[in-house]
Amino acid sequence: MADEARMQQLAEAARAARARAYAPYSRFAVGAALLDEQGRIHAGCNVENAAYPQGLCAEAVALGALVLAGGTRVRAAVVCGEAPAPVTPCGGCRQKLREFAADDTPVWSADGAQFTARHTLGALLPAGFGPDHLGDPR
Ligand code: THU
Repeated sequence: MADEARMQQLAEAARAARARAYAPYSRFAVGAALLDEQGRIHAGCNVENAAYPQGLCAEAVALGALVLAGGTRVRAAVVCGEAPAPVTPCGGCRQKLREFAADDTPVWSADGAQFTARHTLGALLPAGFGPDHLGDPR
């Protein structure tokens, strides 16, 4: 797991990404930042679409950036949003993270000022389906 200082940097990257969100329909801006196996940070924001279901979550965009940069694993994640309750990844994004992260990978929520929740991926997606079910062909 990343140290506290790195998690703070991850949160700052998620906040900066959130500022770039394209969310004219929901008006709900989200930023995500992922720490890869090389210690690098990859960020993403939500990108909505007039055809609503075609919108992209911040986590999905960040995962695309990680893969594009040659990353193969997610060691930690931060999701940043402003809401009455901590913003955690949606169900689909929990599954997307599952592809590159382990049950004990920290997935933290943050707002503009602080961390608001700390989970593991395994807690967010218990008994999840993953590459291992397919014989892990990677
Ligand atoms: N959203 C994310 O980007 N990530 C989350 O973890 C929760 C939801 C986006 C999707 C949509 O653009 C907006 O937030 C409202 O659901």
